[in-house]
Amino acid sequence: MKFFVDTADVSVIKELAAMGVLDGVTTNPSLVLKANRPFRDIIREICEVVPGPVSAEVSSIDYDGMMREAAVVRKIADNVAVKVPLTWDGLKACKALTDDGAMVNVTLCFSAPQALLAAKAGATFISPFVGRLDDAGLDGMQLIADIRQIYDNYAFETEILAASIRSVNHVRDAAKIGADVCTVPPDVLKSLVKHPLTDKGLDQFVADWKKTGQTIA
Ligand code: E4P
Repeated sequence: MKFFVDTADVSVIKELAAMGVLDGVTTNPSLVLKANRPFRDIIREICEVVPGPVSAEVSSIDYDGMMREAAVVRKIADNVAVKVPLTWDGLKACKALTDDGAMVNVTLCFSAPQALLAAKAGATFISPFVGRLDDAGLDGMQLIADIRQIYDNYAFETEILAASIRSVNHVRDAAKIGADVCTVPPDVLKSLVKHPLTDKGLDQFVADWKKTGQTIA
């Protein structure tokens, strides 16, 4: 499973990219608002740091507006994935853009039939929002499983990009089900390394090593 980071904070992306754990980046208008910097600068800088797909979301909700904005973001770098909402206009834009060779991430997916439509429209990525479904009292991870089964049944090549990830367990479950990509907020990504028994074991090894009175280097 590939790891994308879900943020528009370029300094955080640089730090994670240097560790070699990043396969791509997702942004959305709310993350751009939080970053409080010009959108095009953010996307350009991220694309310079991460060679994998970098999702840049359109702000228009009509087909013509989406296509105008897509033309602008595609010019920023070759690794931009145009992010469009899961609406009829979004699917129409998805079809036109992927036919023209662009990567497209169809976002705001909350049902398996929506994901089926996105695949038929040629989406490169489908973004089912796990956490927001959980927040609404539904089972977000079941949606990932349903889409995996449907895409496998019909050999769709659209990659399942598990989004709206809230926890380490979401990452584990998405990987077990076979999501192609998980886009993870930086705090969750960093917490993947943590385990109390790792910390406890390391404390013990450090203490015992000191008692040997030896040095290695
Ligand atoms: C990513 O592409 C999505 O926009 C993002 O994961 C949404 O996450 P949220 O539900 O935490 O806002």
